[in-house]
Amino acid sequence: DVDLLTDPVDKIARVGGTRHPSIPLPEDLFMPERKNSRGLDLSDDTELARVKAAVNAPLPFLDKKAPPKGDDASRAQSAVATALRGFPAWSRRSVEDRAACLDRLADLLERERDTLMALAVQEAFKTIPDALAEVREAVDFCRYYAAQARSRLQPIELPGPTGERNVLRMGGRGAFVCIAPWNFPLAIFLGQVSAALVAGNTVIAKPAPQTPEIAAFAVGLAHGAGIPEDALVYAAGGPDMGAALVADPRVAGVAFTGSTATAKRIARSLVADDARPIVPLIAETGGINAMIVDSTALPEQVVADVVTSSFRSAGQRCSALRLLVLQEEIADRTLEMLSGAMDTLVVGDPGDPRTDVGPVIDQSAYDRLMGHRAAMESRWLKTLPVPAQGLFVPPTLIGVERIEDVQQEWFGPLLHVTTWKSGKLAETIERVNASGYGLTMGLHSRIARAADTIEDLGEAGNLYVNRSMIGAIVGSQPFGGEGLSGTGPKAGGPNYLPRFCAERVTSTDT
Ligand code: NAD
Ligand code: ALA
Repeated sequence: DVDLLTDPVDKIARVGGTRHPSIPLPEDLFMPERKNSRGLDLSDDTELARVKAAVNAPLPFLDKKAPPKGDDASRAQSAVATALRGFPAWSRRSVEDRAACLDRLADLLERERDTLMALAVQEAFKTIPDALAEVREAVDFCRYYAAQARSRLQPIELPGPTGERNVLRMGGRGAFVCIAPWNFPLAIFLGQVSAALVAGNTVIAKPAPQTPEIAAFAVGLAHGAGIPEDALVYAAGGPDMGAALVADPRVAGVAFTGSTATAKRIARSLVADDARPIVPLIAETGGINAMIVDSTALPEQVVADVVTSSFRSAGQRCSALRLLVLQEEIADRTLEMLSGAMDTLVVGDPGDPRTDVGPVIDQSAYDRLMGHRAAMESRWLKTLPVPAQGLFVPPTLIGVERIEDVQQEWFGPLLHVTTWKSGKLAETIERVNASGYGLTMGLHSRIARAADTIEDLGEAGNLYVNRSMIGAIVGSQPFGGEGLSGTGPKAGGPNYLPRFCAERVTSTDT
């Protein structure tokens, strides 16, 4: 007499969903501010041919990337000085004015979609669908934070005794440093920057050293949208540049997305000097994300969601599935189906529309992943052939005995697989929690009580039941982790902007 969750196929047909492209998404599933970002149909052959030509158009400046001029310390100092100079004017502009800048930026991103997609493909090796998703998400962040600012950042009148007026105001804190990773070089880069700006801060924006050009292009668009050059300062460079910016005591806060190790380094730097003001660190980091599957799950859906979650974007998403935990009774059958599904993946040139899995970002990522894969060779359950030339890591299933055998985030298309015993769901979730990471966690089960159990016990910022674990949608699935996965704020959620604000209360005896 267990309660069953709705049959997954029925449910997808009823509410719309992203996993079956043949079922159109109802327009009312999207907030009005998101609609414009979805206007490209890759199932239309003519449109696809046009996009293919556009994303492969030569971008000669990418071959001639010159390192930034000047030493990191002096460039960092001058970037902070510029942002401090811009702060009084920008922070005094009305919320409406700042929000309107983000809306204009969203318009410009849409206008320049093809160039941005070309940059995402050629600089970050995104596949065409991923490049499109990257631009859409950047647009979504701008429009969503603009809308949130209009509703959330207005002064609030608070109750008080007769004869007293209490008003809470939200405003910028000062010059905020925003540090981005290479794997979402536009969406996360602009997500952090747009939130910090609309909250009233000026921003020093540091992209990852692997992806400076798409970020520089986006900053140019932001200036074109009316955000002054001393409100948004672009600061290219690598770890040393990031460290120099964070170490500057004039900085009013840091928004960082990247690895857990770097977040800890930044946290230590921010408290190293006793004389320095205490400033906020918003950190979004990595995870050892697990999906638990029981014997009631729909096998076809499990396999489709596992392939999407672990191999799309070549596994280079913080949200990606790293550890599949199958109930013993269904392990052999699921692995057989998964192996068949993997055979259909096309690994190759990211600019080719047929490609599902492109190369990894650079030689050091390639060496790290291939080293782990080679060390685990005796445990391979499945691997795929890949092109001989290029940084292609073969999508691989690696069998491990225990959940605890996966001790670190392997940031690529390597999926570890283990089993759990029937009747031990709570214990299995606790063992997944014990890694200390808490970014995404998945469950596939038709039993309602199992979904309740993961909701009660799962220590992860984003829990996914009977669906894939990647591609959080701005405004619907606010995204961010806990524990080793981050400080908690949810990008694309209603509570994000206040994290960038100073809150001040004025109490006046009237
Ligand atoms: P990384 O930590 O190596 O670098 C991230 C950024 O930090 C880069 O811009 C880098 O130049 C800068 N940096 C490096 N050392 C620094 C220092 N000491 N001080 C200041 N800045 C410094 O990470 P990465 O390899 O670029 O990105 C991949 C990682 O990001 C993965 O762990 C992934 O899980 C994580 N990530 C998390 C999220 C999320 O939302 N939780 C999203 C995307 C990526
Ligand atoms: N927000 C990104 C995702 O959900 C990282 O895949």
